Amino acid sequence: MLENRRILLIVSGGIAAVKVPDLIRRLRERGAHVRCILTKGGAQFVTPLTLGSLSGDKVYQDLFSLTDEAEMGHIRLSREADIILVAPATADIMAKMASGQADDLATTALLATDKPVMIAPSMNVMMWTHPATQANLLTLKNREVKVVGPSAGDLACGEVGNGRMAEVPEIIAALTRFFQKNDGQGPLTGLRALVTSGPTHEPIDPVRYIANRSSGKQGHAVAAALAELGAQVTLVSGPTNEADPDGVKVTHVETAKQMMKACSEALPAEIVVCAAAVADWSVEGAKQKIKKEKGAAAPSLNLSENPDILATLSLPGPTRPMLVVGFAAETQNLIESAQSKRAKKNCDWVVANDVSPGTGTFGGDSNTVHLVTADGVESWPTLRKRAVAERLAERIATYVQRHI
Ligand code: C5P
Repeated sequence: MLENRRILLIVSGGIAAVKVPDLIRRLRERGAHVRCILTKGGAQFVTPLTLGSLSGDKVYQDLFSLTDEAEMGHIRLSREADIILVAPATADIMAKMASGQADDLATTALLATDKPVMIAPSMNVMMWTHPATQANLLTLKNREVKVVGPSAGDLACGEVGNGRMAEVPEIIAALTRFFQKNDGQGPLTGLRALVTSGPTHEPIDPVRYIANRSSGKQGHAVAAALAELGAQVTLVSGPTNEADPDGVKVTHVETAKQMMKACSEALPAEIVVCAAAVADWSVEGAKQKIKKEKGAAAPSLNLSENPDILATLSLPGPTRPMLVVGFAAETQNLIESAQSKRAKKNCDWVVANDVSPGTGTFGGDSNTVHLVTADGVESWPTLRKRAVAERLAERIATYVQRHI
C-alpha cells in the first residue's frame, strides 16, 4: 500500500523526533519515498544528516534558502507529495497550523499545500489536555487533518498520561489505512468476519422463553465497524430491536443451538467477534403450553448446557480464525474474570465490560471496556458503543495487518 507513495515528513521539535529515523526506515522498507522538512526545534533532537542518509533525499530546513528556493520552491515541495505527515507534531506546530501561521518552511508548506495532512501529536499530558490544544485539534480535525495517537504512558518529561507519540507501527498502519481508503479499499478488504450479537431466547414452551438483557447494540456496532473497514461480515444475531447494519449479511436466530449452527455455516473467517450474550442453558421445552393447574406444584425446568460458541470457534486447528475476540460481561472481579475467560476459552482477546446495575451498559448507548490480550490489559475511557466498536475494529485491523 505504501509502495511509491510520496510522503513529505515534517519533523518538529519534540523528544519523539528520536523515533523518526526508525519511521523513515520502515516507510522506505515498504517502498515509500520520504522527503523531510526539519524545523529548528526538530534539529535539536535529530540531525539533518541522519534524516538525509535514511531518506536518501535532501533535508529541507530553511524557508529563505536561495539554493532550496531555486531547486524546489516551498510551494512545489508541499505539492510534490501524496501526503504530508507531521511527526512529531508539537503543541506549537498544531497551534500554528490551526491559526494559519507561516513563519518557517514547515508551516509555510503546511499552509501552501493542497494535499492531505496527517499529524502524530507528541507533548506533555497537560499541554495535550489544555483547552487551547484541544480546540486546535478540533479545528484541524474539522479541516480533515488526520490524527494518529497520541497514546497514554510514561512521558519523557517524567509525567504519566496521554501525550506519547503513536508508535512507528501505528503511524505506518494509519498511513496504510489512509491510502487504502483513498483507493476505495479498507484495511480489512478481502477478509471475512463473523460477529455474534444480542441475546438468545431459550423456549420453555411454545409461548414462554428464558432470555437476558442484552440489547445487541454493541455487537451490531462491531459488525458495522468491521464492514466499514472493508471486511465481508456475517452477523449472527439473536432477537434484538436493532436494525440490520448496512453492508452486512445477517442471519437471525433465536436459540444458542441455532446460533452455533449458523456460526459454523458462516466459517471460514479470519476474524470472529463473539459479542452475543448466549444463554448458558437451554430448557427441555414442552411441546404444548404448560398450563397453570389450580393447586398443582410449580413446574420445574430441566436445563441442559448449551454449546459454548466462543470456545468452539477458538478450538485449535488449521481452520481456526486468525483472531477470535470474546466479550466478558461481569458484575465483579471484571479483569480477573476476563483473563481467566481468555485462557479457558482459548480466544485471543477479551473485551471486558462491567454490567452491574447502575452502569447502564445493558441497553444503554455507552460502554466502559478493558481490552484483555496476551500483552496485558488496556482500559479505555467510557465511549459510545459505536466508538468502542470503531476502536475495536481499528485494533483488529492493525493486528490482522501485522499477522497476515
Ligand atoms: O462464559 P461467558 O458467557 O461469560 O462468556 C462470554 C463470552 O463467551 C462472550 O464472548 C459470549 O459471546 C461467548 N459465549 C458463547 N457461547 C456461549 C456462552 C458464551 O459464544 N454458550
